[in-house]
Amino acid sequence: MPKLIHLLALLLFFFTPCLCCFEDQSHALLQFKSSLISSTNSSNDSLFSLESWKPGSDCCLWDRVICSTPSSGSDLRSVIALHLGSLVSMESSGPMMVSSSILKPLSRIRSLALLDISYNYIQGEIPGNELANLTKLVHLDMMNNNFSGSIPPQVFHLKYLRYLDLSSNFLGGVLSQHVESLRNLRILKLGENLLGGSVPGEIGNLTKLQQLSLRSNKFDGGIPSSIMYLKDLQVLDLRDNTLSMDIPPMIGNLSNITSLSLSNNRLTGGIPSSIQKLEKLETLELENNLLTGEIPLWLFNIEGLKKLFVGGNNLTWNNNGNAKMVPKCKQLSQLSLKSCGLAGEIPNWISTQKSLDFLDLSENQLTGTFPQWLAEMEVGNIFLSDNKLTGPLSPRLFNSLSLSVLSLSRNNFSGKLPDNVGNATELMILMLAENDFWGEVPKSISNIYRLLLLDLSKNRFSGNNFPVFDPEALLAYIDFSSNQFSGDIPTTFSRETRILALGNNKFSGRLPRNLTKMSNLEHLDLHDNKLTGELPDFLSQISTLQVLSLRNNYFNGSIPDHISNLSNLRILDISSNYLTGKIPASCGHLAGMIETPDTYSSIFDLFTFLIEFHDLIVNWKKSKQGLSSRSLSIYSFLDLSKNQLSGEISVSLGKLKDLKLLNISYNNLSGNIPSSFGDLESMESLDLSHNELSGSIPESLAKLKEISNLDVSNNMLTGKIPVGGQMDTMDDPSSYANNSGLCGMQIQIPCEEQQLPHRGEKEADKAWFSWEGVGIGYAAGLISTVGIIYLYSYIYPPVVHKRKARQRF
Ligand SMILES: *[C@@H]1O[C@H](CO)[C@@H](O)[C@H](O)[C@H]1NC(C)=O
Ligand SMILES: *[C@@H]1O[C@H](CO)[C@@H](O)[C@H](O)[C@H]1NC(C)=O
Ligand SMILES: *[C@@H]1O[C@H](CO)[C@@H](O)[C@H](O)[C@H]1NC(C)=O
Ligand SMILES: *[C@@H]1O[C@H](CO)[C@@H](O)[C@H](O)[C@H]1NC(C)=O
Ligand SMILES: *[C@@H]1O[C@H](CO)[C@@H](O)[C@H](O)[C@H]1NC(C)=O
Ligand SMILES: *[C@@H]1O[C@H](CO)[C@@H](O)[C@H](O)[C@H]1NC(C)=O
Ligand SMILES: *[C@@H]1O[C@H](CO)[C@@H](O)[C@H](O)[C@H]1NC(C)=O
Ligand SMILES: *[C@@H]1O[C@H](CO)[C@@H](O)[C@H](O)[C@H]1NC(C)=O
Ligand SMILES: *[C@@H]1O[C@H](CO)[C@@H](O)[C@H](O)[C@H]1NC(C)=O
Ligand SMILES: *[C@@H]1O[C@H](CO)[C@@H](O)[C@H](O)[C@H]1NC(C)=O
Ligand SMILES: *[C@@H]1O[C@H](CO)[C@@H](O)[C@H](O)[C@H]1NC(C)=O
Ligand SMILES: *[C@@H]1O[C@H](CO)[C@@H](O)[C@H](O)[C@H]1NC(C)=O
Repeated sequence: MPKLIHLLALLLFFFTPCLCCFEDQSHALLQFKSSLISSTNSSNDSLFSLESWKPGSDCCLWDRVICSTPSSGSDLRSVIALHLGSLVSMESSGPMMVSSSILKPLSRIRSLALLDISYNYIQGEIPGNELANLTKLVHLDMMNNNFSGSIPPQVFHLKYLRYLDLSSNFLGGVLSQHVESLRNLRILKLGENLLGGSVPGEIGNLTKLQQLSLRSNKFDGGIPSSIMYLKDLQVLDLRDNTLSMDIPPMIGNLSNITSLSLSNNRLTGGIPSSIQKLEKLETLELENNLLTGEIPLWLFNIEGLKKLFVGGNNLTWNNNGNAKMVPKCKQLSQLSLKSCGLAGEIPNWISTQKSLDFLDLSENQLTGTFPQWLAEMEVGNIFLSDNKLTGPLSPRLFNSLSLSVLSLSRNNFSGKLPDNVGNATELMILMLAENDFWGEVPKSISNIYRLLLLDLSKNRFSGNNFPVFDPEALLAYIDFSSNQFSGDIPTTFSRETRILALGNNKFSGRLPRNLTKMSNLEHLDLHDNKLTGELPDFLSQISTLQVLSLRNNYFNGSIPDHISNLSNLRILDISSNYLTGKIPASCGHLAGMIETPDTYSSIFDLFTFLIEFHDLIVNWKKSKQGLSSRSLSIYSFLDLSKNQLSGEISVSLGKLKDLKLLNISYNNLSGNIPSSFGDLESMESLDLSHNELSGSIPESLAKLKEISNLDVSNNMLTGKIPVGGQMDTMDDPSSYANNSGLCGMQIQIPCEEQQLPHRGEKEADKAWFSWEGVGIGYAAGLISTVGIIYLYSYIYPPVVHKRKARQRF
């Protein structure tokens, strides 16, 4: 019986007319697939999710292929849409590169109306001739590839095209030449390329345009006045360019505009009053320009307004006049009045906005407390950092299931953190640094599985009763530094924890073995505590460690040999302890200090959008400085100073070619300075002072081209200070003081056997200046600005960012 059914099925298969695709189209697709596979040398077609593309089957049933509905009188269906985005996956070894020639076979599918080949790392020119044959195209998405050259003229002959996206390529070339043929274009998106010059006036010829995006290019100059002919324009997105001019008042004539995005340019002047004529306006983004004048009250009378971003300008706020304002707009979902000069209490009128999800009032002069009405509003993202707010937080705030980001850093909030913090289970980022909070960290906080970042630094938190997180929780970043925590180092955080900063507290006891359970830990900072005991061998099991700071504790015993297993370690600071014994020769094998590891990645890559980072405090050229986390990949430090280390310095330390700082001062080291130190080619700061070193300073130090800080004082060194290169500029007498007979021109003590060499070679002068300009890390202000921009796009990602992000994680 089953056999019969099979037979019937077989017969049906052969004799019912097949509503299949055309054979030549099927061929073309298979040819595309095989050229894709051979161009990437991959033998595995599942890499491209094209397994269903098999010879002999109906191509209308293949993944990513859409066919027309069969027309009467025809048994065959034609391919009308190909969704070929993100075929080529991002490999761990970087993107595969695919040649644009793989697209050739697709030109035989003349029926195509939609072609999406975005996110494929395709290289080379856009194949214009091939595209020219696809005359039915309406929608062409080529964003996020690596096309180069110019937009081929054939693109502009695709007369049905309504959607063209060439974002994120490397296209140069011109727009204006072919503008004639673009007259039917409805949507033009040329964002995220490197197009430059001024926005072509011909843009005004594209009178049917509904969306114009030139976002993230290098357009400078102004907004052409011809833009006023774009009567149908609904979306104008010129964000992230370098446009400089006043915002043209005639923009108010484009009455169909719903979204006007001009953020991150250099626009000047005031906000033109003609904007109030844009009755359909929903989004107005003017952030980070050079706009001046008062923020007009009428903005809040645009009834449909949903998103308003005006921060980061030189605008002012009429604190008296606006205090009692009653806005006509009631639907604001996103509002940024960052650094707009707001003073007094958090404005009450904000409570009239019923669907507020994003509120940024940071960097103002707001005073008073966190208003109860705001705690009750269920806002998703609240930024109030850098104000003068005081008082405790209402528990109501944390009974919100909307709250996702709460940034209150650098105010004077006080009191205990409410016990129900853990009720805010959607919270991802909680930043409370530099306030006056005290008490224990509420246990309930460990209920928040999604919490990624917890920054409680610089408060008065205390105790040792820490929340116990699920080992699988997402918590990647913990900064509890500069509080009054005591007792044992807590290890009850997630396995995902990358950054654990507990410095400047009152922690005591030994390093707990359970630290090794944090198998992703990159950054362990325990400086300025009261930790005791020997440095345990198990430390070397945390092989992901990039930064280890144990400065200023009570560690004793010797430095474990196995420390060299920490092959990713770039910064090791164990200064100001009671360590004894020799510096192990194995230190010379710390791979991360020899060469930046290829696979070097950091949690900070994940948090590029973040506003503030934990700054690692290091001793740098005789002063304590914050090393910005972004610099960690360029800086490699070894600080063993202020211990009781003895014996000779191992020659092997000379292998640490990437080290910028080596500080072994204030120990009991004896013997000679190894001449291998001349191989420390990146060295900028070398401090050997306050030891018992003898012999002469090796000539090889003249090879150190980057050195700008050398201290050998308070040893028993003798002989001539080497000359040449940077050594000629190392002429601070205090760096050589208290030795047993050093001589040389640097300290103006002639050596007996020879004359003073002439000083000041050109090369040396150059090198001398090269380091001076280079500060340590980046200015904090810059990071905040850059960070917040990223954060906006992270929380409200435009499609592009979302997809990027997904690929990245
Ligand atoms: C593919 O392999 C060939 C030889 O086997 C080689 O020449 C070519 O560079 C490889 N291409 C890629 C993209 O790896
Ligand atoms: C192809 O790759 C997929 C996933 O990447 C894997 O599951 C499969 O085993 C691979 N097949 C072959 C033949 O290598
Ligand atoms: C485009 O179509 C023409 C015929 O209309 C044909 O001669 C030409 O070879 C096609 N070009 C490509 C690249 O397929
Ligand atoms: C894109 O191509 C250019 C030149 O062909 C190359 O310099 C660049 O590195 C490529 N970009 C990526 C992301 O591979
Ligand atoms: C296109 O714009 C330019 C300058 O704005 C103008 O001179 C030209 O006449 C326009 N072409 C058409 C067809 O409107
Ligand atoms: C643009 O607005 C005008 C009226 O100002 C209207 O006639 C026209 O239909 C609108 N266009 C679109 C695409 O909405
Ligand atoms: C734009 O609006 C102004 C009034 O605000 C008017 O004087 C001008 O003629 C308008 N321009 C166009 C091109 O409609
Ligand atoms: C803001 O304006 C003041 C004077 O009005 C000027 O000194 C200052 O540089 C401006 N700031 C910016 C960021 O343009
Ligand atoms: C913060 O508030 C406390 C009272 O809670 C007060 O003693 C302290 O001076 C305030 N600090 C600052 C910087 O305003
Ligand atoms: C936390 O949430 C639970 C359930 O939603 C609620 O019963 C409880 O009262 C909340 N806790 C506080 C302190 O509000
Ligand atoms: C270490 O972790 C294990 C479970 O992971 C736990 O049972 C043990 O109590 C922890 N030890 C200390 C000293 O915290
Ligand atoms: C380290 O210090 C502890 C006391 O904190 C002491 O018991 C131990 O013997 C010391 N170890 C070494 C090697 O000095």
